[in-house]
Amino acid sequence: MSSMIQVNNGPTTKVPFQVTDPERIPTRRYFDEEFYKLECERLWPHVWQMACRLEQIPNLGDWAEYKILDQSVIVVRTKQGVKAFHNACRHRGAQLANGHGNCRAQGFICPFHGWRFNMDGENTFVYGKHLFSERQLEKADLALKPCRLELWGGCAFINFDDSAPSFRECIGPVADRLEAHGMSNMRSEWWYATILPANWKIAMEAFMEGYHVMRTHPQLHKASPALYNTMYGQDAGAIGQPAPSNLTVRQNIQQQLQSLELLSVGMAGMVHAKEVEIARQLLDVELPEDPVKAVPMWYGILQDQITKQLRARGEPVPDLNAVAVSDPVNAVEFLFPHYFLLPFFTSMSSYRIRPLGPESCLFEIWSLTGAAEGQEPRTPLEPTFLPYDSREYPPIPQQDYSNIPLQQKGLHAEGFEFMRLSKEKEGLISNYQRIIDGYLSGVEPEKLAKATQLLGGNFDGKIVDLGF
Ligand code: FES
Ligand SMILES: [Fe+2]
Repeated sequence: MSSMIQVNNGPTTKVPFQVTDPERIPTRRYFDEEFYKLECERLWPHVWQMACRLEQIPNLGDWAEYKILDQSVIVVRTKQGVKAFHNACRHRGAQLANGHGNCRAQGFICPFHGWRFNMDGENTFVYGKHLFSERQLEKADLALKPCRLELWGGCAFINFDDSAPSFRECIGPVADRLEAHGMSNMRSEWWYATILPANWKIAMEAFMEGYHVMRTHPQLHKASPALYNTMYGQDAGAIGQPAPSNLTVRQNIQQQLQSLELLSVGMAGMVHAKEVEIARQLLDVELPEDPVKAVPMWYGILQDQITKQLRARGEPVPDLNAVAVSDPVNAVEFLFPHYFLLPFFTSMSSYRIRPLGPESCLFEIWSLTGAAEGQEPRTPLEPTFLPYDSREYPPIPQQDYSNIPLQQKGLHAEGFEFMRLSKEKEGLISNYQRIIDGYLSGVEPEKLAKATQLLGGNFDGKIVDLGF
């Protein structure tokens, strides 16, 4: 099918190392300086970027800085809601804020000549006003420049392009599906950051397929080999489906539990310990003798119990069985270009990646889960910074991080011109890269937004026709 998909050369600009065969990704896209520069100029200034989690700024006047490439934006909670401003004093441009803080009492005070701005960005003080011509003191001109902002899923998203389509238009229905799973009610229990010696796309793409589980996460594969083999080996299947083997019903359930335990310990955040605890209570529930019926039924019982028990504790969780039908989400959902979520029951892992150079990126992970009112976790205001090879990471990110730098190095090898993608399971990588080409070549924003919507649910998916 993919061979029938046409890739044209884009309407305006010729893109170096463009994807011309959707199954083959040229390696220079991951380290070439010129390609990186084009991304900085044509991609990042036009896309919706996750600037901060809202629990980083819980109180009036709380602010957090978001940095991307050479830009810095202050996201601040005001009386009229969350706003964003470009981080530059209107006098001679010094940055006003660094990190995070609260500006309720003092506003933002420029460290250079002491000009002041309140949380709404209005200038409130100019030292020695009489020294300036009147036109230099015009109120509107002295206000901090606002940056476009939209709130979704417990996060503030910013866009430097005032004419870009809205966040919803770009992300599409996956935003609503994730919302139905309780995104906005989730809070972060922990937050890690690291610098990876790899291009930002290499880091993203390590999470775009489950085909790597067999070798990269052998413990997951070993716990239920039949399960993963059916997904990536021979037949078709999925988590929550019985393994096609001679296992009894109870052995099947045991295997499902073990997979959940491994995900919980290894991918802390994705399956929460409180959910595993509930699963453990259900090992002996009555089930039909046929594993083909019993395993999905057990999952249904488990989801029902998680819903009921967590609701009884006051947690704002959705009816998991209902949303599994009405708003199904994939194992990983990508919000182009740099934020993605791994939803499971009532918890998720959430990842954000930012380029620091052609071969370096900042990689963050948050755990997200629901909490009863008044019992919210103490959300960290800044990430715990660890080296990428730190043993303190949960095992699964540790394993993913170990491959990423190796891949970045291997891409430079003489004679390695392009990656060879599976058109069945690695389509998301191709679709992502071709949308990037769309930005670099100047495809109309509406077409790009439409194409971007196709990434919802595309994890482990096929190469698709993007319409340009
Ligand atoms: S640059 Fe800010 S007061 Fe002069
Ligand atoms: Fe992985």
